Amino acid sequence: MSSVATIKSNIIPPHLEVKGGCPLNGVLKVSGAKNSSLALMAASLLTKEKLLIKNVPQLTDIEVMSEILRNLGAKLTKTNNSIEINSESIHNVELPYQLVHSLRASFFCVGPLLTRLGEAKIPLPGGCNIGARPVDEHINGLKALGAEVEVINDVVKAQVSTKDKRLRGANITLKYPSVGATETILMASCLALGKTTISNPAREPEIQDLAKMLNSMGAKVFGAGTKRITILGVDSLSGTSHFVIPDRIEAGTFLIAAAITRSPLIIGPVIPNHLSAVISKLKECGCLISQHGEHHLKIIPREISGVDITTSPFPGFPTDLQAPFMSLMATAKGSSKIKERVFEKRMQHVLELNKMGACIYQENNTAYIKGVKELVGSNVEGGDLRSSAAIILACLSAKGNSIFTGLEHLDRGYEKLEEKLTNAGSIISRNFDQPTSQRSISNKIISEDNINTQKNAA
Ligand code: EPZ
Repeated sequence: MSSVATIKSNIIPPHLEVKGGCPLNGVLKVSGAKNSSLALMAASLLTKEKLLIKNVPQLTDIEVMSEILRNLGAKLTKTNNSIEINSESIHNVELPYQLVHSLRASFFCVGPLLTRLGEAKIPLPGGCNIGARPVDEHINGLKALGAEVEVINDVVKAQVSTKDKRLRGANITLKYPSVGATETILMASCLALGKTTISNPAREPEIQDLAKMLNSMGAKVFGAGTKRITILGVDSLSGTSHFVIPDRIEAGTFLIAAAITRSPLIIGPVIPNHLSAVISKLKECGCLISQHGEHHLKIIPREISGVDITTSPFPGFPTDLQAPFMSLMATAKGSSKIKERVFEKRMQHVLELNKMGACIYQENNTAYIKGVKELVGSNVEGGDLRSSAAIILACLSAKGNSIFTGLEHLDRGYEKLEEKLTNAGSIISRNFDQPTSQRSISNKIISEDNINTQKNAA
């Protein structure tokens, strides 16, 4: 076992130790959608009645959003993957800097706060590892609905100055089909006076899931998922109970995990047309994918060949699966080209994949990949949520063992990942203890190795 991870210094943060080359088998379970849950939780601010959201994944991002809602005065009761939110007595219109800066989705609260309390004050969420991520489309949308919005010292101050403190319906056209801006305008216009139309909105499944819940609260939202959404404002919204859609990005990550380890797998629950662009690219590169029962997909990878992808808004190829797909292309036969067209800084994984022996040349937001026979286990680090997932997939397929650091990113978007992978045959463990030297790490992995071999032999 030559290619064991090298450790530069003796101290490494909590990490994952991954044994490469283990085939996966059985079923990989998909949790509820993070990006839908975050918007649905913000929408709870629109009603004085209780809202029960079920199938919510247990993630650090959900924890932060819960903290934000509590901070505004909402009461939350959690049981496993269900959250009951009571926003009857919200009183605070200001969101604290720390919380906002650790979660961009906190900006989803502005629309509901404004329309519910007539005022909202939130620090600009600022950029993150994947791009500048401005909120101009959110702000322009709220202004179109009649809000006065100003940004002073990086704090967005928004208020409704109409006598009845109600926003007014408007015809809004987005320059770019932004997911967040569509969700902000959608939520703010539900209680506005009159009709709102959103042209060139985002069409992601998370938008459709939000519209479905809002309508079950008594809103009148039409056309979510199409190129034009119409909202007829109502006077108030009631409570409801809503089951979150499966996480298409987690499901896509698992389909790619099957392909990169060349393992036949069953994945679900999943809604196939939430992933049609990804499924067609996986078929194009050599996988057989079929419906398995009502809510699952079966994937049988064959020889994987290089294919080109360009990310774009739904129903195009999702930017959140660009990194995992690049890991697959790194060991595909032949060459491929990957263009990232949604975020301007989303190729951090290239460096780490090349560290594992990949052959990827990056020019601006395009990566040129020459497939190699195999990757080699290494000491690797995730710089954001999806590049972390990509690196884990690479470690699963690599020859030898790897040490992955960057759990603070991974835990934002993947619920119990190592548990799910272990149940499907991976040898992957989370470690908090500080190995003192390379020797002890390799010993540790080897000893674990022996244990598992013995276990499997058993
Ligand atoms: C959502 O982010 C998701 N996050 C992202 O998932 C996902 O990558 C993204 O949509 C695209 O699918 C959540 O739902 C919480 P956008 P969001 O507004 O809403 C520009 C993950 O890994 N833009 O559609 O922030 C922006 O800079 C995360 O789970 C403006 O210019 O995405 C970007 O280039 C990462 N002005 C592009 O649009 C605006 O006002 C897409 O952003 C808003 C956006």
